[in-house]
Amino acid sequence: MYAKHLICTVVIGFIGIFLITIGASGAEPEQIHLAVTETQNEMVVQWGTEEDTQVSCNSPTEIEYGTESDSLDMSQSGTNEMYDWTTCIHTVILPELEGDTTYYYRVGGTGEWSDVYSFTTHSTLLIADNDIRIGAIADHGTSSNAEETTENMLNADLDLVIHAGDISYADDIGSGNGVGDQRVWDEYQNQIEVLASQIPHMYAPGNHEEEGEPHGFEPYETRFYSPGSSSFWYSFNFEGVHIISLSTEHNYDVGSTQYSWLENDLEAAQDNREEVPWIVVFAHKPMYSSNNHGSETEFRDAMEELLYRYQVDLAIWGHDHGYERSYPVYQEEIYSDMTGTEEEPYYQPGATIHIVVGMAGRSLYDFEDPQPEWSYYREASDYGYTYFTVTNDGLLHYEYLRNDGTVGDDFWITKNEPEEEPEVVIDEEENNNENLTDESNNVSKENEIPPIGMLTTIITILIVSSARKRS
Ligand SMILES: [Fe+2]
Repeated sequence: MYAKHLICTVVIGFIGIFLITIGASGAEPEQIHLAVTETQNEMVVQWGTEEDTQVSCNSPTEIEYGTESDSLDMSQSGTNEMYDWTTCIHTVILPELEGDTTYYYRVGGTGEWSDVYSFTTHSTLLIADNDIRIGAIADHGTSSNAEETTENMLNADLDLVIHAGDISYADDIGSGNGVGDQRVWDEYQNQIEVLASQIPHMYAPGNHEEEGEPHGFEPYETRFYSPGSSSFWYSFNFEGVHIISLSTEHNYDVGSTQYSWLENDLEAAQDNREEVPWIVVFAHKPMYSSNNHGSETEFRDAMEELLYRYQVDLAIWGHDHGYERSYPVYQEEIYSDMTGTEEEPYYQPGATIHIVVGMAGRSLYDFEDPQPEWSYYREASDYGYTYFTVTNDGLLHYEYLRNDGTVGDDFWITKNEPEEEPEVVIDEEENNNENLTDESNNVSKENEIPPIGMLTTIITILIVSSARKRS
């Protein structure tokens, strides 16, 4: 009896240990990507694991990290979430990171760790002591052109990527399957992992992020971290740049929650402009575009006044598959006819410059309508990406790079007031001095005449006097 009980206990024990081992091993981490928070010394790490069910995440959510690749001596755990699909999304926030430092990390947990990846933090100072470079793309997808864009972005020395929506095209229309296809999300996020595991990516929702029932925006909301209380509109400071993500896919009318949030955010950003001088907005549907879909005029009517009131420097959009850059423009009126060269950069141009960056990978649209006056440059013949460099001495340089390596467009803005040209003042003074010299010369010449005249008069008087005496 005792022996039977002992055997049962041992067997149950083995089964328990076996089950615990199975539970702890988890699935292989994939789709590893980074994001930033509102706090400049943190990094968000997210990844996916393929689970057996759509409701229960059995894989651990741990990170080991450190500043030496062979000594991951710090660890952090996080949270995980699922949404009606077998991919579990894990999120860990790494706190109190040193600035300008390379960290090595691996994700997963007991039994199934990823390879070791790395990222380099940017400066933790609010006013940059070094240049920063921010990539900007939209309408990406999983095509070979999209892959080529991603590969090229790997060589661009970026600190951050902002993505203005239409990310994977997993939705009913984008996937071509008539239903939202979550495998497309998994494929996309595995494809972008090579870049997104080392450079943080921040997103704005596009129309292709909204799927039919039952998912809606849930895949987008679950798969991507965003700071603040909304996944759809949020902001953060990245050194000297205040970056705002908006949603053209949700209510933006005057007085709406999103509108009020933007108004308050821009007011605070304006108050903080001495410390963070640049303001950049990005969202999906463009306020200005002369391509296939055209300008999103309802959105523009609602929110453009806020961009103008607070003098937002750049507004970056997607949706139309090509590249287009506007002059500084408000209500279709051009505020500067300069083009922003390196020699003559824009300085307080008076209105926002709008850029459409929808040429990252999905099929390009041809421009069919004539180029409007507010449009400075447009092309839709090549795939590629854009980025802008913000220097520590007040310059912003925006570039569009085609995938063949050539520059499609670029422009400069400065926060430094151009120096007055002093030549005109000097010339006037010199002219005045010359006039004065001439006048004084004339005066002295005139003064020379009286003595000669006087001498002549005296001689004349003497001659006349002498003649009278003789006579
Ligand atoms: Fe779109």
